[in-house]
Amino acid sequence: MVFEHRAADWDSYRMDVHAPHRELESVAREIEVVEAALAALHRAGILPHTNYDHEKMLAHRRAVRELFEIPWTAITPRMQRLLYAINAIIQPPVMIAAGVFCGNTFISNAGAAVGPGACYQARDLVGVEIDPEKAALAEANVRKIDPTGVARVVAADAVDFAAGYPGQVGLLYLDADGDRGRGKAIYLEILEACYDKMPRAGGPGEPGAVVLAHNSVNCAERLGTYLEFVRDQAHCRASVNVVIDGEGLEVTAR
Ligand SMILES: C[S@@+](CC[C@H](N)C(=O)[O-])C[C@H]1O[C@@H](n2cnc3c(N)ncnc32)[C@H](O)[C@@H]1O
Repeated sequence: MVFEHRAADWDSYRMDVHAPHRELESVAREIEVVEAALAALHRAGILPHTNYDHEKMLAHRRAVRELFEIPWTAITPRMQRLLYAINAIIQPPVMIAAGVFCGNTFISNAGAAVGPGACYQARDLVGVEIDPEKAALAEANVRKIDPTGVARVVAADAVDFAAGYPGQVGLLYLDADGDRGRGKAIYLEILEACYDKMPRAGGPGEPGAVVLAHNSVNCAERLGTYLEFVRDQAHCRASVNVVIDGEGLEVTAR
């Protein structure tokens, strides 16, 4: 059985990937849509609550608009808010984002802990990008928001990086499109490399690790084996397909 949360207007809500800062709807409507998604994740037992600071989220958005060089991005304002909110709620000390291109997806996650949108203190937030030129652009973008180095981008293969990461991982964000013919199937390879480092929920105050997979809607077919894996409760506690735009986000509790 596939658990899904779908906004009524998910299919008509469209962005221009070359104009990511253009307003597509009122902030109030955007908050309403994301709030409904967070509530669904709370009901599924993936999020402990749905509260996050709306002003800090907007401060984060302003900093990205002013400081980041973004050649293109498919991260809609709704998705940007959802990623920020999930990180602000889970507050992972360690977050790995795989396939970060220019860093916009990465900072949508990491912005909950660094820069003007910071609402908690993280230990290590790593964006992994296999293309060295893209990794350099992402790192330069991130440095403008976070001079501390808590958030950083490395040029590496996300499968190798995840396999070699020395500690526990609280949140894994997947957005790599693969290379050498691996395509989106690489999501499962990266998760498998990280799986044993991601704690399951303990008790109250220990919500457990979360995995976010972008493109759960527009790449659903290519993500077939990944989605089958995370939706099987033998592997993961709960998983919800959040359909608030044409790309979608599969949100999974390890
Ligand atoms: C489609 S882009 C993600 C863009 C993002 N969705 C956005 O809208 O800004 C996917 C990125 O994954 C990177 N990538 C592909 N295979 C990878 C791997 N094995 N490890 C790390 N990054 C990888 C690609 O170089 C590319 O920059």
